[in-house]
Amino acid sequence: RQKSDLRARRILSRSTFATKAQTVKKVLQQAGAAADDKESFSAVQEQRREQAERSVLINCPPNINQKRFLDYISKHGHIQNHFFYQSYGVYAVVEFSTKDSITALKANCTIPSVQHEAAVPFKSRLLSLKWTGQAGQSSASSTLKFQKLLPIPINELTQHLSKQESIDQQLQCLSDQYQLTEENISLRFLVCSLLRDIAAAYFPECIIRPFGSTVNSFGKLGCDLDMFLDLDGISGQNQRKGSGLSLEYQVKQGTSERTVTQSVLSVIGECVDQFGPGCVGVQKILNARCPLVRFAHQPSGFQCDLTANNRVAMKSSELLFVFGKLDARVRHLVFAVRCWARVHGITSSIPGAWITNFSLTVLVLFFLQRRTQPLLPTLDQLRDLADPSDRCIIEGNDCTIVSDLSKIKLQENSDTLEMLLQEFFEFYGNFAYSSTSINIRKGKEQNKPESTPLHIQNPFETGLNVSKNVNATQLERFVALCRESAWLLEQKEVLKRSTGQSADVIPPWGLAALLLPSVAQSAGVKGRKKKKHHPASERIKNLLESLKSNSGGAGAKPNTV
Ligand code: CTP
Ligand code: MG
Repeated sequence: RQKSDLRARRILSRSTFATKAQTVKKVLQQAGAAADDKESFSAVQEQRREQAERSVLINCPPNINQKRFLDYISKHGHIQNHFFYQSYGVYAVVEFSTKDSITALKANCTIPSVQHEAAVPFKSRLLSLKWTGQAGQSSASSTLKFQKLLPIPINELTQHLSKQESIDQQLQCLSDQYQLTEENISLRFLVCSLLRDIAAAYFPECIIRPFGSTVNSFGKLGCDLDMFLDLDGISGQNQRKGSGLSLEYQVKQGTSERTVTQSVLSVIGECVDQFGPGCVGVQKILNARCPLVRFAHQPSGFQCDLTANNRVAMKSSELLFVFGKLDARVRHLVFAVRCWARVHGITSSIPGAWITNFSLTVLVLFFLQRRTQPLLPTLDQLRDLADPSDRCIIEGNDCTIVSDLSKIKLQENSDTLEMLLQEFFEFYGNFAYSSTSINIRKGKEQNKPESTPLHIQNPFETGLNVSKNVNATQLERFVALCRESAWLLEQKEVLKRSTGQSADVIPPWGLAALLLPSVAQSAGVKGRKKKKHHPASERIKNLLESLKSNSGGAGAKPNTV
């Protein structure tokens, strides 16, 4: 940290342009990038949460002029950061330097008078900017730069991939295109913070924290927003001092943790539904193993799942974050495998018997632990490196992992991404699923404790199977696809980019070829209707033919995700 600050200051002293504050921030960001990579999970989350509390979300008129907008908003306080995006209309996220500015801004906001209907007078930080009088007509519009919230379509992606020089570059390009941007993550934290304001009506000390792919470093643009309502801060200070009298709160008792969680979520869900601006389609799914409230947050376009009392899932997100930060190859391989699985209908956004992204990620981690020179440590090793302050027991489960990433020493491993991708497919194309369980805690295959087709031990709740939902058919499809893909990656037509063509018409090769639909023509989540089965060898032959001959033949038409 100190080193990067020093570097930042040195660069800064050479800088003669832009406002000082902006330059300081940018340069600190640049110089700090490497240091930030080793920053602990909780420090990163805390910083983002605090930024979100200083932010507002504003729906803008479509012809808004950026300068005029910023001039008007900055009357209420110094703007630290801002960006625009398009969803159902034009929106701006504005982060002020201090929270006081939000109080000043809100003092100038009015509750709209709606004709024929009545408004719930709830004053949130989701605002609308309106023209008053004739001002709108006179404003000259300048083109705003919009942040993208969704990934590029798969056919554009495969074109990008085909233009890369190596398979390693293709995997890096895929992550660059798909990963969550800083702005997208900020918006996710802001949505959590807006919801917190609703829940805070009952529980002023509560926090709503994002978990899952928003924070685990494997999030793809467009992924859902998993959140949990953290009430721990309320009962946190329970030590009684002295030996005289003490007061305690009278509380309502539930029959179990689960029933309390259900009733809290039921009430908060009701508030979100009745009072939450922009929250639509609220469903309370309280009888699930993990009770939740599901809804769409329209201004951001996020599909939201709100749970409560879900600290173990938060810890698994931290674990994935740690693994993702240790070596860049981990994230590239996970993004590639998730995309490959999605394109071929191995995973789906609809719940069912398919493998989930979480399971797929654990499969990749396990594979990386099983290399001759392991690329990743085991979970037991991460636990053994932990400081006493990292100790974490949740509902009797030891969820301790080291938080200081600089304590983790990795083994030398120079495997290329191409090699890893190829061998991932071979590994899972030939895995002994019927007898063996996948266990990232030990980093070793274990005997299977139950007879479900696929057994992936939950890293922290070790009695649970992460992939309990997966049926034999889905596992067979996964294995068949792994085998086909491993085979394809051995073919020279697939391995090598063809030369002598203009960049626009390079036939799909390498990773791009693996994302073509022909590999998995016989079935899929999308094509669940009975289709004629071709023997695998024939399908592969067809695909190879189309790859050889084409720059866009029927077999090579990209899939849609
Ligand atoms: N989770 C779990 N066990 C499961 C499924 C999910 O512990 N069988 C936890 C994991 O921590 C996971 C989180 O719940 O990261 C959210 O689940 P989900 O939304 O299904 O996975 P994501 O990792 O968020 O991936 P995505 O939403 O991109 O599919
Ligand atoms: Mg998710």
